[in-house]
This record gives sequence, C-alpha cells and structure tokens, in this order.
Amino acid sequence: MSQTDRRPSVALYYATHDGHTRRIAEYLSACLAAAGIVAPPQDVATSPASADLVKTSLVVLLAAVRYGRHLPEVERFLTVYRSLSVPPPLAFASVNLTARKPGKTSATGNPYLRKLIERAGLAPALAVAFAGKLDYSRYTWRDRQIIRFIMLLTGGPTDPDTCIEYTSWPAVDEFAARVVELYRRG
Ligand SMILES: Cc1cc2nc3c(=O)[nH]c(=O)nc-3n(C[C@H](O)[C@H](O)[C@H](O)COP(=O)(O)O)c2cc1C
Repeated sequence: MSQTDRRPSVALYYATHDGHTRRIAEYLSACLAAAGIVAPPQDVATSPASADLVKTSLVVLLAAVRYGRHLPEVERFLTVYRSLSVPPPLAFASVNLTARKPGKTSATGNPYLRKLIERAGLAPALAVAFAGKLDYSRYTWRDRQIIRFIMLLTGGPTDPDTCIEYTSWPAVDEFAARVVELYRRG
C-alpha cells in the first residue's frame, strides 16, 4: 500500500478514563462534520487499532493522562500504528491537567507529550496538549487525595467540591482546522 492508494478518510480515536477526552473527541468530530468530513469517534479500549488503519489517509488520536502516563490502551494502539508498513500521518492530542499552565500545550512544553513522542519514536504531523477537567466528585477517595496533593504543589484548587473544565475550546477549534488542512492536503 502506498500513500496514493489510500481512501481519503479520517480515523478518529480517543482514550478516556473519566469521559472528558470522549467529550473533546465528540466536539472534534462535530467540527470535522461541519467541514464535510465524516469521522465518528472510536474508543481505543473497545475499537483497538488493526492493520486496516493503513487504508485511512489520516489518524487522529486523543489520549488522557493518568498518573504520569497516557492510558495503557494508547501505548497498545501506537504499537500497532508503528508496525504498519506505511503508517498514515498522525494528529495527536494529549489531555492532561498540566496543560492548564502556560507553555505546557506544545509538543516540546508538555512533558507527557514530549516523552511519549520520544519513547514511541513518533513523528506526528500535528501534536498538541489540551487542558483536561478536574472533578473531585468523580474520583475515588485515594485518587482525590493524591490529585489534591498534586494541586497543592502546583498551585491548583484543593477544595474537594471543585469541578473545573480547563479545556480551551478555541484551541480544539484550531486543532480541528489543522486536521481539516492535513486531510485536504492528502
Ligand atoms: C487519578 C488521576 C490521575 C491523574 N494524573 C495526571 C497526571 O499525572 N498529570 C496530569 O497532568 N494530569 C493528570 N490527571 C488529570 C487528567 O489527565 C484529566 O482529569 C483529564 O481530563 C482526564 O481525562 P478523561 O476524563 O478523558 O479520563 C489525573 C487525573 C486523575 C483522576
């Protein structure tokens, strides 16, 4: 399979634990639909990557971070992606709370994104980090205490009633516009 044999299509995947990355994927899917691109979001936990990925012209992957790493299904997805003879271009977005800080939304500024790209030997066409959501009410007691402690260290809110969505939706719009551009470029 060469790049020119590919069907012009976008395969949109996400990995979530608490649901926020799915919300971003759904929003992105709606942005793409408005540009005439049909790309229903697929959960990598239930729709893992297969060799068929090679037939698509662009892969988009949104992945949540938990305890310092992207979810394990992301690593599994990327192992399959890397094993393809000619992997399609990849647009990757990491979702984490570190990205709420200035300078932490780029591939060089966000430590999780930077480490994943290095470790997996990726050369994504597009790589960004989106700030995620903090919702203490959803977490187990242990997770809540740990995240509160991390927030204390990083100047974030520690009130256990806090529910804040840090995601910049204009940044997601911009990502969507760049995905459309990549798709049209072929
Ligand atoms: C148990 C737990 C661990 C987390 N670990 C990190 C972390 O190491 N670094 C970080 O920046 N954000 C961390 N986060 C924040 C998540 O990345 C953020 O809440 C994101 O929106 C989760 O996406 P999801 O709802 O799709 O699972 C953590 C959140 C939880 C609940």
